[in-house]
Amino acid sequence: MFAYNLNKITMHIFNGKANLIAHLLAIKTSNSTIGFVPTMGALHQGHLSLMQQSTTQNDFTVVSIFVNPTQFNNPDDLLKYPRTLDQDVAKISAFDSSIIIFAPSVDDIYEENVSSDPFDFDGLEHQMEGKFRPGHYDGVGTIVKKLFEIVSPTKAYFGEKDFQQLQIVKKMVEKHHLAVEVIGCEIFREANGLAMSSRNERLTADQRAEASFIYKILLEVKDKFPTHTTEQLNKYVASAFIQSHTFELEYFQIAEEESLLPLEEKIDTKTYRAFIAVFVNNIRLIDTISLN
Ligand code: PAJ
Repeated sequence: MFAYNLNKITMHIFNGKANLIAHLLAIKTSNSTIGFVPTMGALHQGHLSLMQQSTTQNDFTVVSIFVNPTQFNNPDDLLKYPRTLDQDVAKISAFDSSIIIFAPSVDDIYEENVSSDPFDFDGLEHQMEGKFRPGHYDGVGTIVKKLFEIVSPTKAYFGEKDFQQLQIVKKMVEKHHLAVEVIGCEIFREANGLAMSSRNERLTADQRAEASFIYKILLEVKDKFPTHTTEQLNKYVASAFIQSHTFELEYFQIAEEESLLPLEEKIDTKTYRAFIAVFVNNIRLIDTISLN
């Protein structure tokens, strides 16, 4: 462990799993609860809203900051992913200095073997992000499972911003009988509606302002959902993007929330969601909205 001294506030920061495990063993009693918020850093209000839930619901909160190489299918995206550990530590300490930070190295997590294990998420991994980012969810499954084994959390917090990831982590917990409760948290948005994301930092000020377009389209889709067919909605979104010079649509899909299968025929008892992935230059943004 090393103690970061920020304005006389001492934070607990661990960069090796052995030290973190020893610390957690020392502070835990048999009935204390640990909340866990895994992140890749470049923290924003969305991440802090997850921490807020964890600190109010648990005795201890652990936040991990680790840019996981095995979940990046695009080497350039991994290279350009923002790494801002000092600022992240400052943000966490300003928010709640009792939070325990785990910021390991790639070696500490993967030792000699930087690769993913194969996972079967009952088909959830073949939809949307899984189609367009081959191997991504094996990487996510691998790192989240490793982190759960290190932290042994009572509850773990994931954002609905990455709704497919949330469902996949829930599926992993169920299939591997892991003793952790996975909690989904609402999407935190900028004032203009753009979903907060670490990748937003790579947008220019103009692109960031214009990116409210993505959420506006999703709101329109939600509005039209009761009266339009999936085909009409798909066409509406495709044509809105053809007219845009800034944004390129990668995919738009309306899917049932549990199976993530594309909506074919609406069933009253099921809930549905729209999912979208968009490129602004080479920066990839995703968003989602619940429809009913
Ligand atoms: P990262 O993109 O840093 O996100 C960490 C957590 O914050 C995820 O659960 C994500 O859904 C949530 N989050 C991101 N933006 C949000 C927003 N605007 N509102 C609410 N929650 C938001 O997701 C990952 O990292 C990684 O895949 C990880 C799970 C850490 C595994 O490496």
